[in-house]
Amino acid sequence: MDILRKKIHKKGIEELLQKKKKMAKSSRRKPNILVTGTPGTGKTTTSSQLSEATEFRHINIGDLVKEKNLHDGWDDELECHIINEDLVCDELEDIMEQGGNIVDYHGCDFFPERWFDRVVVLQTDNSVLYDRLSSRGYDGSKLTNNIECEIFQVLLEEARSSYPEDIVVPLASNCVDDISKNVTTLCDWIRSWHPTS
Ligand SMILES: Nc1ncnc2c1ncn2[C@@H]1O[C@H](COP(=O)(O)OP(=O)(O)OP(=O)(O)O)[C@@H](O)[C@H]1O
Ligand SMILES: [Mg+2]
Repeated sequence: MDILRKKIHKKGIEELLQKKKKMAKSSRRKPNILVTGTPGTGKTTTSSQLSEATEFRHINIGDLVKEKNLHDGWDDELECHIINEDLVCDELEDIMEQGGNIVDYHGCDFFPERWFDRVVVLQTDNSVLYDRLSSRGYDGSKLTNNIECEIFQVLLEEARSSYPEDIVVPLASNCVDDISKNVTTLCDWIRSWHPTS
């Protein structure tokens, strides 16, 4: 999907900051992890393997939006549902409070900042991503827009402007070995996480 164009329609930064401030600090016993990145970088593959290894809940936002109708219809041009961010946040509020969640989505600036203890930004070399998206049937502007999104590190920038610097971690996702390496890194991090950390 066309992330660059979608960003243009994003809410003002002021509105987002106010929403985040309204949320009280959590007392969850397990951490929450956000796995973000350009489409095709391996968010769902990584999240699902991490979920198997940890028994944390894998929440694929795209699937959730479809299942629970948390959208405002279908965008023909972008070929995706028009996500209703408020409905998504309301739906997840109690679940996120419990901790132990892996949230998988190609955007990150509308979730409350306090939900996450780690924000992972998966990154894939342009030529590798090009082949992955082509073999998925992406072409034309849909393909170009996603490659540009990766080239300009749109998701890394979005993560860094939405969450504290020290919780945002870019991880390479070019080959199958990277997936297991990333899962191991995140499992180690979860083991060392402490509620007050
Ligand atoms: N690190 C990797 N090495 C090799 N193949 C990978 C890697 N990560 C993902 N893939 C492959 O790339 C394809 C896309 O992966 P996946 O569906 O996990 O990406 P995604 O980031 O969830 O995409 P989307 O945003 O569209 O949901 C899959 O066929 C997957 O097997
Ligand atoms: Mg996915």
